[in-house]
Amino acid sequence: MKHEIPIELVTGFPVIDQQHAELLERAEQLMNALAERKDTATALRIHSYLTDYSTRHFALEEEVMVRFDYPERVAHLASHMVFTNRLRQIEDEIGAWGTGFGLMSEAVLLLPDFLIRHVSEHDLELARFLREQDSKEDPFQVVT
Ligand SMILES: [Fe+2]
Ligand SMILES: [Fe+2]
Repeated sequence: MKHEIPIELVTGFPVIDQQHAELLERAEQLMNALAERKDTATALRIHSYLTDYSTRHFALEEEVMVRFDYPERVAHLASHMVFTNRLRQIEDEIGAWGTGFGLMSEAVLLLPDFLIRHVSEHDLELARFLREQDSKEDPFQVVT
């Protein structure tokens, strides 16, 4: 099932909204794979996809922040880093215990919540800032 982005999380930039929907869907998929104790290879495959996808998504946002000299860049990047570190922690946990730990790991359980909080606290703020800039083009379309 395709994840729908709740209306209050829509940034208005289609590339970003589409990527957020994908990230949320995959984060939930990973959480479920671990909670349901799917095999380790399946969990690692979803994990690896989520890692690559989030790395590319964050790089795109970061490139735009640099280009527009976004004043809240440091706090925003720090939040991206927290997410990336959580993914690393989950990888370590899968390596140590397989998939049986899913329901006990805070990093796993809070992964979708973290994304939702990040979008509402950081990405919406960035979107507001970008709309105030006098850019004729969608800044995310230009670089993709
Ligand atoms: Fe972000
Ligand atoms: Fe984002």
